[in-house]
Amino acid sequence: MTQNTHPTLGEFIIQKQDDFVYSSGELSRLLSSIKLATKIVNYKVNKAGLVNILGEYGEENVQGERQQKLDVYANEVFIDTLSQREVVCGIASEENEDYIEIPCTTNAKNSKYVVLIDPLDGSSNIDVNVSVGTIFSIYRRISEPGTPVTQEDFLQPGNQQVAAGYIVYGTSTMLVYTTGNGVNGFTLNPGIGTFYLSHPDMKIPEDGNIYSINEGNYAKFPAGVKKYIKYCQEEEGERPYTSRYIGSLCSDFHRNMLKGGIYIYPSGTNNPNGKLRLLYECNPMAFIAEQAGGKASDGFHRILDIQPTELHQRVPFFCGSKNMVEKAEAFMQAEKDSQ
Ligand code: AHG
Ligand code: MN
Ligand code: MN
Repeated sequence: MTQNTHPTLGEFIIQKQDDFVYSSGELSRLLSSIKLATKIVNYKVNKAGLVNILGEYGEENVQGERQQKLDVYANEVFIDTLSQREVVCGIASEENEDYIEIPCTTNAKNSKYVVLIDPLDGSSNIDVNVSVGTIFSIYRRISEPGTPVTQEDFLQPGNQQVAAGYIVYGTSTMLVYTTGNGVNGFTLNPGIGTFYLSHPDMKIPEDGNIYSINEGNYAKFPAGVKKYIKYCQEEEGERPYTSRYIGSLCSDFHRNMLKGGIYIYPSGTNNPNGKLRLLYECNPMAFIAEQAGGKASDGFHRILDIQPTELHQRVPFFCGSKNMVEKAEAFMQAEKDSQ
């Protein structure tokens, strides 16, 4: 198949819209706006090092983490693009303390979608020219269209997601997304600024031999995780597994998605619930993982069934190949039972 025969992302979005008889096209417009914002951020990420965009911004975000200039830039690009095109009624971002209400002008009056976003994931990798990403999640609002959005519109369990996706700004830039009907991946041709369908109907292998975890935190890990790591390192059958950890969830997840593997960010590190955020990172990745035949868990329960209670809530995260996640869960459960 040559590039000319691959559908573009724009064509694909329209083609999928035609699958729904009563579709108003609103979700298609929203996805197209995300595509546009992605290209703008990609352009800047690729120039990092040449323009004055590397380094710290000089402030901390709502999580008390140092913001990088690109964190702030990507956040602005996504918020401005989505709000100016009036395709959403509200946005919640990892970088903002509170959600943003998009004022109801004529066009936006009936907007029924909210977006939750991690505008730049893996930001500690920016200055060293290692892949970073973006993660997004889309829900239908619960409150009445035409009225201001409420916190409840954002605090929905992940099983209510309408769409979710991630972008990896890597050796090539890829956008991977699902609307609940499988997962498709698109690669950007930077010369002409067009995404092409390069990875149709992505499936994560049921088994794998990669485990991704920040082992520097080993001493603080729960006993179940420590024992699972030991299991990964034992010489037996396909084991020992390979350890790969980039420190950018998008990139680690993407590699495991293609090759088979497990990503773990457990509890018991500096934060009792781990580091990753349920709404901006875990729910969208869990939706994509399940749609690709994989699994996502907090060690005991399905991520997508957790009822969120706050916007910036964190949760332990075990995600990837189905059999690997189930094995890690078995170690967690055995430890719990032995207490
Ligand atoms: P962000 O840059 O959006 O804050 O996310 C970073 C996350 C995730 O992408 C990555 O896997 C993890 O934090 C790395 O954390 P450690 O440095 O603690 O391993
Ligand atoms: Mn992140
Ligand atoms: Mn981030």
